[in-house]
Amino acid sequence: MGSPIGKGIPAMSNARAVLARELAIGDIDDRLYGSFIEHLGRAIYGGLYEPGHETADGEGFRGDVVEYVRQLNTPIVRYPGGNFVSGYNWEDGVGPQSERPRRLDLAWKTLEPNTFGTDEFVRWCRAVGTEPMMAINLGTRGVDAARNLVEYCNHPSGTHYSDWRIENGYVTPHHIKVWCLGNEMDGGWQIGHKTAEEYGRLAEEAAKVMRWVDPTIELVVCGSSSRNMSTFPQWEATVLEHTYPHVDYISLHTYYGNRDGDTPHFLAQSLGMDAFIEEVVATCDFIRAKKRHKKRMMLSFDEWNVWFHSNQADREQPPWQEAPPLLEDLYTMEDALVVGCMLISLIKHCDRVRIVCIAQLVNVIAPIFTATCGGIVQQTTYFPFLHASRYGRGRALDMKVSCATYEDKVFDAVPYIEAVGVLAEDRSELTVFAVNRQLEEALPLEIDLRDFAGATLGDHTVLAHADLKAVNTLERPNEVVPEVVRDTLRLDGGRLQVALPAASWNVVRIALDA
Ligand code: AHR
Repeated sequence: MGSPIGKGIPAMSNARAVLARELAIGDIDDRLYGSFIEHLGRAIYGGLYEPGHETADGEGFRGDVVEYVRQLNTPIVRYPGGNFVSGYNWEDGVGPQSERPRRLDLAWKTLEPNTFGTDEFVRWCRAVGTEPMMAINLGTRGVDAARNLVEYCNHPSGTHYSDWRIENGYVTPHHIKVWCLGNEMDGGWQIGHKTAEEYGRLAEEAAKVMRWVDPTIELVVCGSSSRNMSTFPQWEATVLEHTYPHVDYISLHTYYGNRDGDTPHFLAQSLGMDAFIEEVVATCDFIRAKKRHKKRMMLSFDEWNVWFHSNQADREQPPWQEAPPLLEDLYTMEDALVVGCMLISLIKHCDRVRIVCIAQLVNVIAPIFTATCGGIVQQTTYFPFLHASRYGRGRALDMKVSCATYEDKVFDAVPYIEAVGVLAEDRSELTVFAVNRQLEEALPLEIDLRDFAGATLGDHTVLAHADLKAVNTLERPNEVVPEVVRDTLRLDGGRLQVALPAASWNVVRIALDA
């Protein structure tokens, strides 16, 4: 790889941070590393499901995809949409495959064969070791379809829908715990788009009745589909006025892009994610105070990523194809940096953000890319997600980084270094995740570790490339891959010195006395 990783530690250290147990933000919910799969493009057909593929098992699940998803160890996967769910009849996707109807999917102007549905999804989740997170259709449907789907999935037996599941081969209930009350209902593009008032009432009734079928489920109500929506944050306030006692989470969605080729601005956009989270928290707490409610509302950031490369190609796709290539962003090194900054933002807000789904998992704006009938590749964005999922579990520590900043057209004082610490669940290790937004120079960072007596140096993994537009392809799958670097760490008198290469994603691991 054409890595620009500098050797050695620059003499001057002007960026400083502290890591201490007292600076705990909160315990990270493992579901921070969740993902999302929609009936969209080649996410399912040609992605995770491809009967006949050389790696497919008897169920048609691609083994190469299963292996990469297992590596990511994503604990929860949202399904079946996305915009798709707002026109979906879940009944079309269960029962004998040969009898399932082909339908027009109006969300993405494609043909839906329905050969993959709820039962196949749950089976796939079991195969990869993840939990399903199910969205219901509150666009064209409502309370009745919602309660029936909960009965189908979670009721043991002896009723119409639970017995139908058993007849379809699933004696044990699917036990789906987390349910989304529709998708992006604030957006004019949504099938069955609603005002906050209309949606709030519908979500309230759906939630109430779904819980009557299964009181153990957790519910996510739709917040705004982005911070830029003109209805934000009044949408949240109105929706929560209706649903506060009935739901556990409110959703947030955000996608960023570098449409103007302005890399410093692109890298700064995670500051918008910080602000969005904090504004939604404030709105939730306002409604909580107004209602004098005991419960603190948690957040489900159930769609986030970089999404812009494929926009033009998608406009040129003819309608009504089955599994066309849609939203197939090929991710660059700089996209991986933005994903890294967004992961840091999410970890920093783990006290309120409990469920997070990178959108999406395979082929559609995804860290994993496959060729139908062909190979598989880890996109650049795969690696920050892999590292965060692997080492970012435990207790998040605010690092109080003080460093140089730059001015941006939207954000004031963008810090060159974005960083957060994580103390492992078993307290045997500290991990620092850091992005250096400085495009030209390595930056030295000094971290005060004196609170951790007996800390010893672990390793320093870096994702960087001389060309910020470098990508991984089927032909060149290892163009952008992480590297364990040497001579970039020094620990002296409880102070850790680390050199963060220009434009890099960094994972620094520190061993602790057990
Ligand atoms: O993830 C792609 C799309 O982005 C989803 O279908 C929708 O919810 C969002 O607008």
